[in-house]
Amino acid sequence: MDKILVRGGKPLKGSVQIRGAKNAALPLMAATILAEDTCVLHNIPCLHDIFSMDKLLADMGMTIDFTGRSMTMEPQNLHKAEAHYELVRKMRASFFVLGPLLARFGKCRVSLPGGCAIGTRPVDIHLKGLEALGASIRIEDGYVVAEGKLSGVNYALDFPSVGATENLMMAATRAEGVTRLTNVAREPEIEDLAHFLNAMGARISGAGTDLITIVGVDALGGAEHIVMPDRIEAGTFLTAGIATGGDVTVLNAKAEHFPNFLKKLQATGAVVEIQGNKIRAHAPNGINSVDITTQPFPGFATDLQAQMMVLMTRANGVSRIKETVFENRFMQVPELVRMGADIDVDGNTAIVRGVKSLSGAPVMASDLRASAALVIAGLMAQQGETAISRVYHIDRGYERIEERLVGLGADIERVRE
Ligand code: UD1
Repeated sequence: MDKILVRGGKPLKGSVQIRGAKNAALPLMAATILAEDTCVLHNIPCLHDIFSMDKLLADMGMTIDFTGRSMTMEPQNLHKAEAHYELVRKMRASFFVLGPLLARFGKCRVSLPGGCAIGTRPVDIHLKGLEALGASIRIEDGYVVAEGKLSGVNYALDFPSVGATENLMMAATRAEGVTRLTNVAREPEIEDLAHFLNAMGARISGAGTDLITIVGVDALGGAEHIVMPDRIEAGTFLTAGIATGGDVTVLNAKAEHFPNFLKKLQATGAVVEIQGNKIRAHAPNGINSVDITTQPFPGFATDLQAQMMVLMTRANGVSRIKETVFENRFMQVPELVRMGADIDVDGNTAIVRGVKSLSGAPVMASDLRASAALVIAGLMAQQGETAISRVYHIDRGYERIEERLVGLGADIERVRE
């Protein structure tokens, strides 16, 4: 197992290229199940989660060529409408294949994903939505067995779940008639998926609003698409820049993908400059505390909560950070406290009192975004070395993070344990 060693105290400076969004790429890959011809996805990030989805689709009979950052996917020989437990348990996003498999084959078997570190993460909204579209669903030996011919329906989701919106939108592309989904997620990744599906011949409108209308079609063809940039990665690098007293510019990022986050950065006193697809942030006059409440888009993204919390550990004043999307997403707190942060957790709210500085310590990564927060904390530490173990969590969502941070002047390295 690898470890990441960080010796902090150096301001990050310079620019970094943002990769394609993992959370867009995974559902896009699942969507190719619906196609009857070759699809090409560009700007795919090289991440463990992408390799897991690649493996899952290959197991179903998809021919995949992943060269550079482009993935050519040939779904012509898909024959197995099943997602095995061994593959789904490693990555929850594997569950995105349920909707497309059902729409294409009329019957499928997909393992239930189970919980994970940040919460129980049920899939009831996915299943209720598919039932509303006409599927019959039963749970058998830990698997969801779904079958039936899908027809258009007016359906309101109980909560704007990102994954459920994606699953239902994909399933409805080949349903008979018109589907209207309300109270859907409005995340930019939903729009990216709708663009790709429409390029394949689907008839989807309203993605990005809270009403998505899908006119069912008989078949979908091949298409080519460029994956949107990763707004969470961009937010992580910008936070790391400010947190270290540096000056970082992210390239190939879109400000409209994370407006609430950028507004919060500005509220801390940071200067944020947006120029086309470049975003620069620096905080020449220190950091003021801000309160944050995570919410579905366009609210503050839960995937940037842990990183923002680290920034608040050195802010002037007290910050209240409320997590409303996941029930257990403060895994970074005990580790940050060990590095000298002053944080109390009260239910779903963390109270962060700014301190002068953090110091390095051995810490453990627990989930993807909490791990990114620990890397930032290590970079901020004015003394000592931070050794982060279980870095496979980071590799799920950040491509060679240490090399890119070295490019910004960080003293960070990966070592084999
Ligand atoms: C996606 C993102 C993840 C992000 C999250 C919220 C991907 C691959 N992952 O995850 O990075 O943190 O959106 O922005 O895109 N819920 C239910 N029942 C359901 C579905 C969800 O109760 O059937 C709950 C979840 O437990 C969670 C909340 O709804 O508390 C939000 O989950 P959801 O939006 O579905 O997140 P994911 O799609 O899993």
